[in-house]
Amino acid sequence: MCGIVGYVGGGQAAEFLVDGLYRLEYRGYDSAGVATLDGHGVLHLVKTAGRVDRLQARLERAPAPGAMGIGHTRWATHGAATDANAPPHLGGDGSVAVVHNGVIENHAALRQRLLADGYRFLSETDTEVIAHLVDHCLKGAGPDADLAADGYEALVAAVAEALAQLRGTFGVAMMFRRRPGVLIAARRGSPLIVGVGRGEHFLASDASPLVGRTGRIVYLGEHELAVVTPGDLRVVHRDQGRVRHRVEQLEIDSGQVELGPFDHYMLKEIFEQPETIRAVMAGRIDHDAATAKFGGLNLAPHELRAVDRFLMTACGTSWHAALVGEYQMEALARIPVEVEYASELRYRNPPLCGHPLVFAITQSGETADTLAALREMKRKGYCTLGLCNVVGSTIAQESDGGIYLRAGPEIGVASTKAFTSQCTVLAMLALYFGRLRHLSFDAGLRVIEQLEQLPEMVAGALETNDAVRRIAEKYAGCDNFLYLGRQFNFPTALEGALKMKEISYIHAEGYPAAEMKHGPLALVDANTPSVFIMPQGPVYDKVTANLQEVKARGGPVIAVVGRGDTEAASLADDVVEVPNVDDFLQPIVSVVPLQLLGYHVALLRGCDVDKPRNLAKSVTVE
Ligand code: AGP
Ligand code: GLU
Repeated sequence: MCGIVGYVGGGQAAEFLVDGLYRLEYRGYDSAGVATLDGHGVLHLVKTAGRVDRLQARLERAPAPGAMGIGHTRWATHGAATDANAPPHLGGDGSVAVVHNGVIENHAALRQRLLADGYRFLSETDTEVIAHLVDHCLKGAGPDADLAADGYEALVAAVAEALAQLRGTFGVAMMFRRRPGVLIAARRGSPLIVGVGRGEHFLASDASPLVGRTGRIVYLGEHELAVVTPGDLRVVHRDQGRVRHRVEQLEIDSGQVELGPFDHYMLKEIFEQPETIRAVMAGRIDHDAATAKFGGLNLAPHELRAVDRFLMTACGTSWHAALVGEYQMEALARIPVEVEYASELRYRNPPLCGHPLVFAITQSGETADTLAALREMKRKGYCTLGLCNVVGSTIAQESDGGIYLRAGPEIGVASTKAFTSQCTVLAMLALYFGRLRHLSFDAGLRVIEQLEQLPEMVAGALETNDAVRRIAEKYAGCDNFLYLGRQFNFPTALEGALKMKEISYIHAEGYPAAEMKHGPLALVDANTPSVFIMPQGPVYDKVTANLQEVKARGGPVIAVVGRGDTEAASLADDVVEVPNVDDFLQPIVSVVPLQLLGYHVALLRGCDVDKPRNLAKSVTVE
């Protein structure tokens, strides 16, 4: 779930470990710790509930020297966020130290067995079960298996034996007190990356800690285990034995993970949107054929032509993007779309006839439910595409083909720029499939023209920042918000409400505007603002009527309207004007002031905008 770092080389491990844990803070966590091994074979363990700052303070009092070590930010799943439950955990009498992302489902049964074998547990975590189990397997392999001069074979065999007994998901990193100079990392369902340096190697659960340390990385695959020493990296697959690994280039520069002039990552990412939208379109527009083009679909034209239905699956904000995609596909490509929460799809058995194409939409590429839904659909023999932001992520690796969002690292827990990139890619896919079917050359060109103006339109929407801040000041004390929109802007309403609730902890609901009469209208009172998303378009008059229904019941109204709309200005209490665009692109422009509204209200209420309580950036548990 949260963050892993590791180091083996010639420098002081703790320096990289702590710096790396700071870089992983954005993922949301509740405890942190490091273990290092010094030149005298002494293992140093420093850990704490709470922030990395607290860990840092502890390390100043009790340093952890050594040229190798592991570290973790924990997002508690088994046992409260206490010092005792904080990672790393030791196995046996301290023969092995382990950090772990994920969940071990059979931890209770394993714990019973280990207790019966005389192991003593110091925490309630499933991670400690792994640590003792590895120790148990090491001891079972002979008195000095961890010391065997066999190129680590006995060590690897013992670790593999322990991992084979685990049910659930894990990314793990471990080191052995009697075996300085080697780290073992392994993954099943939770990402791990090895950074290759000169005479040193780094480990991290995502690329951000590696930025500025090395540009060369290796993505560990499913069921792979890495044996990492200062000068060597060996990868062993569970079933295939030793495999060749590919060293890839890390495409992130340090500017992308630093705050720059912004107070928060969320604000930085909101303001990056004109650029990220430009990036997602770059090289993917084919003017000559009036269509979009994608490099990684891995499907022959006749296979794409045969697609007669889409199933889009995702969670949270990415699910909202899928809903936008549904409207876009219907309008431009006339292909039926079903959108399903990944958590539901994984246990459903939808009857899909014809030639469906399954889209897994995800910023992180690691969301457990989305991954499980993707695997289930693949197992059934459907063709799958991943729309991912994180390069090399599990879903990017496992889908049959895919499109990267190219939004750069999204660090704020609240997703912003990934959403607008997802909607932009989906619009381009709608154009592409439309052009495979009925959409004329001229109509295709008109879509392209609109797409190409989009970055500028989003930049125009960002100009509302000051106006939105003033509106936020007026309503920051309210405990309920309604978000209402129709058609393309129904998902925008859902997304606006999600932004508000996740970072400001205010209860907010998104609804199709007309649905309001069927229940939510009862919530309207003088302290419940309704945010209407109502740019010009076919349903404008209908939404205006809904707005009046709210006003008639004394509810304050904030209206997000197209530039130059005087009618709404005369009806609403507060108005935010955004540039006018065609309806299939409206969510991408209209969502901007809603992101800003969530941001400013959260700030005024003193909330931790980038790291909201209880949430994690990527949800790798079911
Ligand atoms: C968005 O603001 C949320 N924090 C969350 O809903 C998120 O969109 C969801 O967990 C899906 O994540 P993914 O896109 O990485 O799969
Ligand atoms: N399941 C482990 C725990 O509760 C690790 C959770 C995580 O991924 O951070 O400690």
